[in-house]
Amino acid sequence: MNFQLTEEHLAVRQAAREFAQTELLPGVIERDEHQIFPAEQIKKMGELGFMGMMVSPEYGGSGMDTISYVLAMEEISKVDASASVCMSVNNSLVCWGLETFGTEEQKRKYLPRLAKGEIIGAFCLSEPEAGSDATSQRTTAIDMGDYYLLNGTKNWITNGNSASVYIVIAQTYPEKRHKGINALIVERDTPGFVVGKKENKLGIRGSDTHSLMFTDVKVPKANRIGQDGFGFTFAMETLNGGRIGIAAQALGIASGAYELALKYSKERKAFGQEIHKHQAIAFKLADMATQIEAARLLCLKAAYLKDEHADYAHASAMAKLFASQVAMDVTTEAVQIHGGYGYVKEFHVERLMRDAKITQIYEGTSEIQKIVISRGILK
Ligand code: CAA
Repeated sequence: MNFQLTEEHLAVRQAAREFAQTELLPGVIERDEHQIFPAEQIKKMGELGFMGMMVSPEYGGSGMDTISYVLAMEEISKVDASASVCMSVNNSLVCWGLETFGTEEQKRKYLPRLAKGEIIGAFCLSEPEAGSDATSQRTTAIDMGDYYLLNGTKNWITNGNSASVYIVIAQTYPEKRHKGINALIVERDTPGFVVGKKENKLGIRGSDTHSLMFTDVKVPKANRIGQDGFGFTFAMETLNGGRIGIAAQALGIASGAYELALKYSKERKAFGQEIHKHQAIAFKLADMATQIEAARLLCLKAAYLKDEHADYAHASAMAKLFASQVAMDVTTEAVQIHGGYGYVKEFHVERLMRDAKITQIYEGTSEIQKIVISRGILK
């Protein structure tokens, strides 16, 4: 076993760290407070190659491995989890899904601009009555010969208003249940497609979460990803990789909060000495550092398995399950170490604590991860 990162990995991590500190940190509190999408910052992330990290250079991407993606996600998420969820969806759910399962024409048409961050993608699976129970899709895609007629509503869609390309999961043959579902590429300006209400969220408030409505939207057959009825498998396979991204996001939220708490504990004095010299605080820091290291190893293991083309579905679910719990635990302790300062916006940790919660919900709740893990270990 080799735990050594390569020169290239270290360079990617350093570039992401510098970008996060110089471009994302300024204004992150205001963007959170006023729910402002980091459009300019995402554009720059695209120019630096962070929006299509694993896309082959043939299609305009950076051609990096999943380990590099985890390292960059951690650094970006330490500072701005709203920017990193946009990055994660674009990389894992949209670009990876298209490159792995799309036709040559679809890849040439969409990937270069998605990978460079010139346009953003969205992944539309969740519905008002189909969140965890993803096979119960109510959105319909009726086969009309050379096109599908799409009708329905999607909820909680990340990049909902900022995207130009939407991958929409819909039911074509209800009697076939999950084997009758299709994944369709819908462009933003298609008639009948309307972006609905923006969600006013607890955390990741800079990210752009919307409901979407489709009324008699005509989607050409050429926009279907994979064979007829492949849509549910497409969604599941794509989410397996997506969970590595969200696990790395949770890791970043935790390590960002930990670094702030560590720094604060060396500056703040109480009872005559810096607070880290009190064992009550030192032990908290020890626990936080240990949890973060374990979460990091799970993220890197899942990324490694994916890069090796091994089965990584339950490893990615384990990484997400564990890292998202660590994000909740560590951010809560970081607020506690900051005392009253931790409860106000200027010190960042209250935002990280709010941001942490979504990592236990999206791309499958913690309970869904346990379904995936138990199936993986029991099969
Ligand atoms: N990988 C590959 N295939 C999988 C899979 C996985 N992890 N999980 C299930 N499948 C396959 C099964 O093998 C089965 O295929 P076959 O019939 O060919 O064997 C098929 O999918 C149906 O599986 P089940 O019968 O097990 O279906 P189920 O209804 O019992 O459970 C589930 C499936 C795992 C619970 C699934 O519904 C699920 O993952 N739900 C959570 C959905 C989710 O993560 N939503 C997040 C929305 S996206 C998002 O959040 C993006 C964002 O904004 C950040």
